Amino acid sequence: MKSMIPQQLSCLLCMLLLGTSLAFAPVQTTTRKSASSTTTLYSTAAPETSTKTIRLGIFGGGVVGGGVVDILQRKADFLKEMTGQSIQVNTLCVRDLNKKRDFDTSTVGTVTESYSDILENDDIDVVVEVMGGTTDAKDIVFAAIKAGKSVVTANKALIAKHLPEIESLLAAVNAERDVPVEFRFEAAVCGGIPVIRSMQSDFPGDQVSMLSGIINGCTNFMLTAMDRDGMSYEDALAEASRLGYAEADPTLDVGGFDARSKLRILMRLAFGVEVDEEEISCRGITDLTKLDFEYAKMMGGTIKLIGVATTVGENKVAAYVSPCYVTGSDQLASVNGATNAVEVISSNLVASTYIGQGAGRFPTANSVMNDIVALAKGDTVALPFNPLAKDTKFVNNYDSYFYIRIKYRDQVGITRQCGEICEKHGVSIHSILQNPITRRDDAAFVLITEKVPLSSVMGVCADLEGLDWCRGPTYYMPVLREDWNE
Ligand SMILES: NC(=O)c1ccc[n+]([C@@H]2O[C@H](COP(=O)([O-])OP(=O)(O)OC[C@H]3O[C@@H](n4cnc5c(N)ncnc54)[C@H](OP(=O)(O)O)[C@@H]3O)[C@@H](O)[C@H]2O)c1
Repeated sequence: MKSMIPQQLSCLLCMLLLGTSLAFAPVQTTTRKSASSTTTLYSTAAPETSTKTIRLGIFGGGVVGGGVVDILQRKADFLKEMTGQSIQVNTLCVRDLNKKRDFDTSTVGTVTESYSDILENDDIDVVVEVMGGTTDAKDIVFAAIKAGKSVVTANKALIAKHLPEIESLLAAVNAERDVPVEFRFEAAVCGGIPVIRSMQSDFPGDQVSMLSGIINGCTNFMLTAMDRDGMSYEDALAEASRLGYAEADPTLDVGGFDARSKLRILMRLAFGVEVDEEEISCRGITDLTKLDFEYAKMMGGTIKLIGVATTVGENKVAAYVSPCYVTGSDQLASVNGATNAVEVISSNLVASTYIGQGAGRFPTANSVMNDIVALAKGDTVALPFNPLAKDTKFVNNYDSYFYIRIKYRDQVGITRQCGEICEKHGVSIHSILQNPITRRDDAAFVLITEKVPLSSVMGVCADLEGLDWCRGPTYYMPVLREDWNE
């Protein structure tokens, strides 16, 4: 790799020998730090081009990509002053060149459909990957890192799936370099909320014991609409899609998979624990019914889809994504609509909560922009995913109070049989809730357990479902806090 300083010094020396001043030096060559260095191109050709420039290659001109281009245009002068660099979109790669864009592309150097126009372009310093997916996007991100271009991405699915490979590649590439390739992904988790940066920089002297949050805006919008406005599941999903809160494939949202990808990334940062995301128990909101909201209200709270990761004993971390009962006084209960919130419980800071817009063009593009600006300023993050805690293990079981909803055909002996099954699995019952019965052949009641292992609750549910009065599958969900009843 070429060094910048000798080249600059040699240019300066030539100029001094030729008696030319720096400002008017007729030097025509653009001195590149290196095709594979992180940021700047330096030109001494003429005063107007003498500003340092960081050149971006952006993959994706959709919701997020359009927002990035738009912000760069609106804030160009401010960003130049702040970073000392002119940040330019050299090339924008999209899937369909003929598609009409909903943002101004006049400041974009080239719009292309060809990946190599960015990846093989030595003028481009930073690759911004905002196209999504885990196949082509993976090839692009890996090729960019190998080519020595720093990467900014909003792609949680890619990171959640390939985090160890990204980490190894960065280590291998950077071992050979003086100026490291940077990997930035603030926008990948909770859109506009700066939670990644905080996890990278605010907890090194602390010890996180629990991380929980509403980390999918679409489902939180839907649950709010179902609870507060009494909307049906189908109407709530249609409205979320209309407002642009749902992923192209809404199964990722309603199935909890999008939240699981984010939780998997946050877990690595908070606990240093590596886990295949598919190992994390994931239950979406599809099986929730109006009845569950009625019972939650009866208990004084509501239902939220929460991602939780928590220490369980020494060097063990459990995690799950699930609808949870949340008491009305819990601050997560009042996080409504598409808003996201992450709460971190730790030894030093006790409780830190991050609330904000988890998706959408400008909140997400704002995070992408912050990463670009950090690169332009020369900030570095040596370990983007924080150190691995080699002796910390993921465990797929946790203890909690649980809500179990049981649909039944009314008959004598139901309570006794429930009690016997719970006893068999070592599950103590905290309380039983029963709405007034309007139809004896289609009623429902709810058991609230004491703090018990998930595995025991699953055993109880399986046994209950085998009884002739039990109508269809039971439904269980954790109660978020241990002090929910205080
Ligand atoms: N939207 C959000 O609120 C949000 C929030 C956080 C994170 N993210 C993440 O940000 C990324 C982008 O999301 P988005 O909402 O901006 O998606 P989007 O609106 O669907 O835009 C995707 C863009 O990528 C382009 N593209 C897709 N496949 C391509 C391919 N094979 N080759 C070239 N270009 C391709 C598309 O080109 P065409 O326009 O020509 O089709 C489009 O411009 C995803 O990883 C997503 O998970 C999004």
